[in-house]
Amino acid sequence: MKLSAKQTVEILRAAGEPTRLRILALLAHEELAVLELCRVLEQSQPRVSRHLKLLAEAGLVERFPDGAWVFYRLTAASQPSEVVGSVLSFLDDGDAVLSRDRRKLDDVQAERALAAQSYFADNAAQWDQIRSLYVSDADVEGEILRAAGPGHIRRLVDLGAGTGRMLTLLGPRADQAVGLDLSQQMLNIARRNATAAGLTHVELRHGDIFDTRLPDANADLVVVHQVLHYLGDPAAAVKEAARIVAEDGRLIIVDFAPHTHEFLREAHQHRRLGFSDEEMGRWLTDAGLPHVAVTALPPTLADGLTVKIWAAARTPTQLRIAA
Ligand SMILES: C[S@@+](CC[C@H](N)C(=O)[O-])C[C@H]1O[C@@H](n2cnc3c(N)ncnc32)[C@H](O)[C@@H]1O
Repeated sequence: MKLSAKQTVEILRAAGEPTRLRILALLAHEELAVLELCRVLEQSQPRVSRHLKLLAEAGLVERFPDGAWVFYRLTAASQPSEVVGSVLSFLDDGDAVLSRDRRKLDDVQAERALAAQSYFADNAAQWDQIRSLYVSDADVEGEILRAAGPGHIRRLVDLGAGTGRMLTLLGPRADQAVGLDLSQQMLNIARRNATAAGLTHVELRHGDIFDTRLPDANADLVVVHQVLHYLGDPAAAVKEAARIVAEDGRLIIVDFAPHTHEFLREAHQHRRLGFSDEEMGRWLTDAGLPHVAVTALPPTLADGLTVKIWAAARTPTQLRIAA
């Protein structure tokens, strides 16, 4: 479908202002919270919010509240996003203002990554207790085993493997298993745990979920367990995870339903306070895994968190096997 002249003018008008163009260029890297945009742009929150409101009204960006924070991302709607993409493609990477913005965004991202990495380095030894503070491990693990489906796993990949709990849970059923994590401290513990469980076929690799360097369509089960809420660009991680899922394989994502436990940002480095089915479904579909089965595990404690398991596959048949 084409845009009318009026719609096109509205889009170009919204994009045709220096700060708003900078905002679009920044959001092309990843979704960002309002305060992060203010830091990069060095402008006040009311000012940045005014620009964001205009961009949202013109359909160029999407606003999504997440607990007490509000995030923005470029629209997924096809026509406005094509116009924005086309406008951004004309921009010179060497432009002084845009490259300064890019450097400041790098600083914001690096600070965030450092805080998360030192959190995991400091908490690696206690991770198994921290994990079970949120929810009952036994219930969640029972559902993960169900979502993984019966039978044999040729190649299992656990992204953000942490202390290796998913590998010790599912590894005994796999011929080959790879766990990948950014934290050496976590990997050291995962190696110990895998050895203690007698899992000699488990390989633990240092690596980044955004660029796993694992081959395309090669794993029949990929697991991403309680990792996405730490990430700046969870959609990109879902895409990378989906890339390595074999044609007849499946991806299992375990994370929280939307919640309001704001303290988890400060105390435990969470970036996103859970994910809705709609958001996760969109990311999975965009990543080529449109068939999704969702399981919700309500909290056992009052004021606890609901855990969600999204099992996704390329074909409905694959999911029926899991059901
Ligand atoms: C909350 S822990 C979960 C670990 C494990 N999946 C579990 O449930 O016990 C999150 C893990 O993700 C890892 N992680 C965070 N960002 C990552 C990234 N960009 N690439 C790979 N691993 C990452 C952290 O180092 C940490 O071990």
